[in-house]
Amino acid sequence: MGMTVLKEIEGVREQVRAWREQGFTVGLVPTMGYLHEGHASLIRRAAEENDRVVVSVFVNPTQFGPKEDLSSYPRDLVRDIETVERSGGDMIFYPEASAMYPEAYSTYVEVGGITGELCGRSRPAHFRGVATVVTKLFNIVRPDRAYFGRKDAQQLAVIRRMAKDLNMDLEIVGCPIVREPDGLAMSSRNSYLSKEERADALVLSRALRQCRERFQSGCRDAQALKEEMRGIIAGASSAVPDYVEIVDAVTFHSVKTIEKKALAALAVYIGKTRLIDNTLLDPD
Ligand code: PAJ
Repeated sequence: MGMTVLKEIEGVREQVRAWREQGFTVGLVPTMGYLHEGHASLIRRAAEENDRVVVSVFVNPTQFGPKEDLSSYPRDLVRDIETVERSGGDMIFYPEASAMYPEAYSTYVEVGGITGELCGRSRPAHFRGVATVVTKLFNIVRPDRAYFGRKDAQQLAVIRRMAKDLNMDLEIVGCPIVREPDGLAMSSRNSYLSKEERADALVLSRALRQCRERFQSGCRDAQALKEEMRGIIAGASSAVPDYVEIVDAVTFHSVKTIEKKALAALAVYIGKTRLIDNTLLDPD
């Protein structure tokens, strides 16, 4: 069967309804496009676990702050179609912003708790926009499973919380971070980086790797680990940290001593580009 690109919400509903009538299970991979190997790994996983896979490509305006990169966010639908096809997807849902948010649109999904930490602090309305658009995508596609990357660990936690709290009838699947050979976590935003910035961007993964190594050799003191990460980040001239944190992997509250599963999480400006990365610190 061939790949279809659908713009209209009603067309997606019809196709998915037809699949369901044939007894097929449906996986959804929500994205903002400009797809890379990280996205492709989610699509492949979804294709392994479901009979049909929908990939949404939508640069969601409600999750961008007024001074953020909505208008410059990279786009390449032709290449995205190839990536989805090659990775085993069956449909791209590519809606217009005016179809997702028509005039008089007024409904938002607000997840509490963890959204007050990390990225929620520096990007106040971000997770509200994410939770809202993901709810809409779930309602349009009605998937059996939806796939999210651990690169955005807090986003994954917000979606899990939301799905549980609102009794959404689907499975949320978290997938590993895909990195470039030198360690940089793949991101559509990496395309913004100049040659010098691309080199500086390595401080995120290097800081996290160093943190993990010290943790594995017994250090449980979050302050010491954070200072070491800050030191590594300070070594790159274009790098300015937004946050350097070690948080409880469930509550996302900052921890002093690592006694349970924790995340070392970074947001760092490389020039004008804000990059995030994280790694799990598991004491068991
Ligand atoms: P986007 O940044 O395009 O990412 C889409 C999905 O791909 C997310 O689940 C993200 O965690 C995952 N992903 C991105 N880079 C990855 C990497 N290097 N390794 C593994 N997974 C990776 O996240 C969004 O879009 C949006 O917020 C969205 C959920 C689509 C809502 O608009």
